[in-house]
Parts: sequence; structure tokens; C-alpha cells
Amino acid sequence: MSKQIEVGIESMAVHIPRHFVDLGTLARANNVDPDKYYIGLGVKRMAILAPDEDPVTMAVEACRALLEKSDVDPAKIGLLMVGTESGVDGAKPIASYVHGLLGLSGNCRTFDTKHACYSGTAALRMAADWCSVHANQDRNRALVITTDIARYLVGSSGEPTQGAGAVAFFVSDEPHALILDSQPEAVFTREVMDFWRPHYRDAAVVDGRTSIDSYLLALEHTYSSYKENSKMGWDDFDYLLFHVPFPKMAYKAFRLLYEREFLHGQGCKALPLSREYEIRTKPGLWPNVELGNIYSGSLYLSLAGLLEREVDRVEGKRVGLFSYGSGSCAEFFSGRIGSDSSKWRDKIGISAGLQGRIELSHDQYIGFRQTSKQRASEGSYCHDFLPRSNGNGRKVSFCGIRDHHRVYAISKEKSPQPSPSFNLNQQVSSRPERRP
Ligand code: COA
Repeated sequence: MSKQIEVGIESMAVHIPRHFVDLGTLARANNVDPDKYYIGLGVKRMAILAPDEDPVTMAVEACRALLEKSDVDPAKIGLLMVGTESGVDGAKPIASYVHGLLGLSGNCRTFDTKHACYSGTAALRMAADWCSVHANQDRNRALVITTDIARYLVGSSGEPTQGAGAVAFFVSDEPHALILDSQPEAVFTREVMDFWRPHYRDAAVVDGRTSIDSYLLALEHTYSSYKENSKMGWDDFDYLLFHVPFPKMAYKAFRLLYEREFLHGQGCKALPLSREYEIRTKPGLWPNVELGNIYSGSLYLSLAGLLEREVDRVEGKRVGLFSYGSGSCAEFFSGRIGSDSSKWRDKIGISAGLQGRIELSHDQYIGFRQTSKQRASEGSYCHDFLPRSNGNGRKVSFCGIRDHHRVYAISKEKSPQPSPSFNLNQQVSSRPERRP
């Protein structure tokens, strides 16, 4: 009998935006007790995009870091999927821009997946299926990227749960980071208006209470069907990771499962709730506390956080993962962390990306929002937007829109230095650049 192919996540990289707002700064501007945000929601800082960053630039930077640090030959990428709810166009996928900016081979299928924050998991699951079919072929690597900006109205209750970031990972039959368990699917779909992003707005619409209830309902359904169909459950997991719109939500999710197992169920003896939570869920949450909500990538940011910080403890451990997308679609699945941590040690890039971030005042944050909105309008392109002095090693910039074409510039320098004569070796748009 042939051995079943193991598939899953081979390697991961996280892109962290350069700027952030401290939640205390936001609380004071909103006349709210900072502890509501710090303790009540569990967030310390939220990542904010500069006007020359967008979901495309974040995705490209995450992929570039992944390609630099992994052993994968780009020619082996046969599938590129972007899980996002921050699309920049109704037709052209972010995946297409990423493919062009990275200069990948034409022998590659590219598209975006969408179902709010579930879209990254949709891409991962499709990639895993694809890998089990393409394992022995030349192009057998799937590149999955999650990239999102969480943006709510200024002063609204959703505002402290903003954030931005991208996570890129290779999915293959060499799953060093996470070997997916091949259990029957535990999915749940229910149409609900808890959160959505109309095309005519740059901020999401959210019914916060409904979204929390819908998330927890989906967790109950998927966890029950996972246990029933797989005959696995609580005692099999070393870690439990969740979709993290804000870290306190992961605690609410953990508490629901804990109470279900130990207060109403037949589970084995457990430590107190807070201790179990500290052992099983909190070790992955530290990057979510720093970035805020990154929507489709938030579950994978927690997984990356677990791999990076617990690198010496997690080899061979089993993780239960819950993914939720408003609207709604959810899934509970599981996997085992690979047994060779040298494959991901020092490669994920979260701690490095958090170093040297720039804190924004409230006024600067509002200014960034307004400028980003203007930059995303037709006719916004200007030569002054070309990258000159970012000095942070960022290599692709969004320069604005001209004749309905988004224009991106890629810097030649590996680590650009502040200099007015910044080198460019490529500017990418579907319309060639013309110097005046
Ligand atoms: N010190 C400590 N905690 C405080 C506090 C203070 N001074 N003031 C309030 N809190 C706590 C509350 O008790 C509450 O905790 P609990 O949920 O454990 O009861 C928490 O802070 C949030 O307060 P709440 O009044 O519920 O906040 P809100 O109604 O202003 O908004 C959300 C919270 C999450 C609904 C809102 O941020 C939102 O809509 N976010 C976007 C949607 C989202 O992320 N949904 C999640 C599912 S996908």
C-alpha cells in the first residue's frame, strides 16, 4: 500500500509595517480609559500603513522575505494564492500584481481567495489539496499569502481593533513547519451580516456584538464536528490557536472550549482556566498584541509567533486551529509541528520586524489615513511619491494611480539609505513610466 503524502506548511515569513499607534494614544484621543483597549481588548499597538504601502506591497515584502530565507527555487512555484479581504480592484487579483513584482514564472496559476478572515485558510486548504496531487511534479510548491488592512471609522468602537500585515508561506509535501492532519473537514457556513466592506467605503461596517456571537457559534459547531469525526480532541492538543480580531477574543474562544470540556463535559482533569490558556494559546499571541487585527493572516500570525518564540519547545507538538471569516465561514483543523526546527529558526522575522518601528502621534495617524485614501484615487500619481529615503530596507512602494493604473516602484538597493538619488531598477504598472 502506498504511504499517504504528508502536506502542510513548509516555511513562513511575516511582514510587519513600519509604523504603529499605541492604543493608549488612541484611547486618550477617544476619551476612553486606556485599560479598556490594553486589558479589555488585549491590544497594545496597532500597525498603520504609510501612504506608499498597500496590500500589494505588504504581500510582496512577505514573499520576498520568504524567498530569501527558504531553500525553495522560485521556478518550483506552480500555484500562487492571496487570501485577502482588502482587494485593490474588483477584477484584477492582488496575486497578479505579486506575481509580476516578484517576476515569477508564467507556468503558475494565480488568483485571490475571499471570504473575510477565512480567506487565508481557504487558500491553505486548496493549496494542500493541490500539493497532494502535484507532489512529484517539477512545480510542486504553492505560495500562499495573506495580506490585509483592518480599518474602521475614526472614533468608532472598532477603531482599536485595527491593524495591518502580511504572512507568506510555502505549502508543500515537505511540511517542516506544520504537517496538516488529514481529518474529515470540520467546517461551518451561515449567512450573517456581522462585518462587511462595501466597495464605496474605505472603512469596514461591523456589528461587533453579532460578530462575536457568530464567531463563538461557529467555533462550537466546528469543534463539535471535528471531535465527532476525528475522534480527537482536547487531550490531543498541545496548543490551541484561534482567529484573533483582538487578543481577548482568543481568550473568549479558549474559555468556551474549556468550559465545554470541563464544566459541562466529560473531559479529563485540567489546570485552572487561566493556566491552561497561558500554556496552550497565549504563547502564539504576542505578535497579535503588537500588530492588531490583520484579518486573513491573524491565525497564521499566531502560528508564526508560536514557532518563533517557542522554537525550542514545539517540535512534534500538535496544534488545533480555528479559522473564522465574517459573513460567515469557519473551520477547525489541526496539524503537527515538524521535528526539525532548524527549518524555521530565525527565518520568520517577527522580532526583527518589530525592532525600530516608528510610533505615530494621533495627528500623524489621521494624516496617514487621509493621505492613503487620496493616494488610492485616480490621478494621484506623482514623481515625488517614488521611494527616496525610507531607509528601512523596504523595497517596493505604491506610488499612486495614473490613467487607472496602479504604479509600483521597486528599489534596487537591498537596504535603501536616506538619499535623494534613490536608485530604481524597475517601476511596475501596466502602463510604462514616462519621465517628464
Ligand atoms: N478596563 C478594563 N477592561 C475594560 C474597561 C476598563 N476600563 N472598560 C471596558 N473593558 C472591557 C469590557 O468589560 C469588555 O470586556 P469583555 O468583552 O470581556 O466583557 C471589553 O473591555 C470591551 O468592551 P466593550 O464595551 O464590549 O467594547 P465595545 O462595545 O466598545 O467594542 C468590539 C468591542 C470588539 C465589539 C469592537 O471593538 C468591534 O466591533 N470590533 C470589530 C469587530 C470584531 O473584532 N469582531 C470580533 C469577531 S470577528
